[in-house]
Amino acid sequence: MPPRIVQAGHPVLRARAEAVEPDAIATKEMQSLVRRMVDTMRRAPGVGLAAPQLGVGLRVIVLEDSNKLMGRLSPGERALRGRVPWPLTVLFNPELHLVGDARATFFEGCLSVEGWSALVERALEVEVGGLDGDGQPVVHRASGWPARILQHEVDHLDGALYVDRMHSRTFGHNDEVSLRWSRRAVSEVEGELAAHAPPPMRSAKA
Ligand code: CO
Repeated sequence: MPPRIVQAGHPVLRARAEAVEPDAIATKEMQSLVRRMVDTMRRAPGVGLAAPQLGVGLRVIVLEDSNKLMGRLSPGERALRGRVPWPLTVLFNPELHLVGDARATFFEGCLSVEGWSALVERALEVEVGGLDGDGQPVVHRASGWPARILQHEVDHLDGALYVDRMHSRTFGHNDEVSLRWSRRAVSEVEGELAAHAPPPMRSAKA
């Protein structure tokens, strides 16, 4: 049985995960955790996973993207999102920095908020440093979709979910989003779904 992915509502997804001792990376336990994370991500399938999503409060993320996973997107949609294959990457104790001021807004989902997605603004480019699966220091520069994945996964280590950053009026079930919204311009989606703010709370009548 593949491990179940922890769903929103579990406190482990809202806690700050702890740094991993570099000496612990080579241990059987840590290598087995990484294997379970990679297996779970691939089986889902997803493009990234953070250890808290398996109920483990440690600063470890994995990510991987492939042509197969983006098969439903046209070449134009891939180009717009900067969605390109990314080789399997394991990062312990990632430190993420945004590069530049460019931002991109697209629908984003999470394996821990299964079945839903919303528009989320992310930095277009990031740099992330950390230790790889062998405990060696690495630095990755990423833009477009891989940069989005990295921001999403590192957020998990700080107890944040995309729902904390989403344009909440665009939150929708994946079926509705793929049927109606995901292929349309972000400005149109915002215009139609976010046109009306909720009315203010009414005070109780005296
Ligand atoms: Co997630």
